[in-house]
Amino acid sequence: MKKNLVSINDFTKDEILHVLEMAKKFEENPDRSILNGKLIAVLFYEPSTRTRLSFESAIQRLGGRIVGFSEATNTSIRKGESLGDTIRTINQYTDMIIMRNPYDGSARYASEISTVPFINAGDGSNQHPTQCLLDLYSILQTQNTLDNLNITFVGDLKYGRTVHSLVKAMTDFNTTFHLVSPLELKLPSAVKYYIKKNKLPYYQYEKIEDAIPLSDIIYMTRIQQERFVDPVEYEKVKNSYILHANMLTNVKPNLKVLHPLPRVNEIDPSVDSTPYAYYFQQAKNGLYVRQALICYMLGIEV
Ligand code: CP
Repeated sequence: MKKNLVSINDFTKDEILHVLEMAKKFEENPDRSILNGKLIAVLFYEPSTRTRLSFESAIQRLGGRIVGFSEATNTSIRKGESLGDTIRTINQYTDMIIMRNPYDGSARYASEISTVPFINAGDGSNQHPTQCLLDLYSILQTQNTLDNLNITFVGDLKYGRTVHSLVKAMTDFNTTFHLVSPLELKLPSAVKYYIKKNKLPYYQYEKIEDAIPLSDIIYMTRIQQERFVDPVEYEKVKNSYILHANMLTNVKPNLKVLHPLPRVNEIDPSVDSTPYAYYFQQAKNGLYVRQALICYMLGIEV
């Protein structure tokens, strides 16, 4: 049966661990000719640096080829073509579709129409499952385990799709959750439901300082201006949390700071030269994880 990855819930725990194992092999050797003859559509309706370019690097380093767009203005969408007809058309040409779209739910809809394997590269404030896989890989690489960790999520927990995907995924690993956000940007109850369902401990804070000493991982996020309907509301919360190196004195030795990037102000550059900064390596891990994911979904074992 054709595989899709729209939400991290589409993969079992065993499948996730299998993709992470495959990613380790690609980290050892990312240049292989195993996608020869495969043509993959990369459709980005929303800006991206890491996700699009790491997917394209992943495909090209494995000998595959790419068609697609990085913004929709030069496509027939401008003439009023629907998302459904766009997917039906691209199905005629390619072996897989990777899509980012600003609308929540668009990825599920497109995946149900697609006759080829479909990967969600981010749909609105809903899900970003491939970021979740590379976040899991980064946690595993830095902590040598995914089990029994204290993970602190900071910033926009309401609209942050990377947070929504990673919280769901970490409920399989006996995580203790520390949730730091302004009142206006708390984790939605639909996501908190997964923590409660698994009877896992979670603590909510407004001050980041309260959670730092407890953390194995601090997962910083950007307050996303583009998700706010009212600019006044954005102005109220935009610089709520700024992590500086001098705040990382009383920390666990294994602490790592992650961020899906791009950052704006929320991690001061002084953190970059500390042993806790891992966010650029995390972005690099996206290459290996996306190579693994594409191969897994096309049934190519390594
Ligand atoms: N982390 C992430 O999704 O980054 P981009 O928006 O640059 O792809």
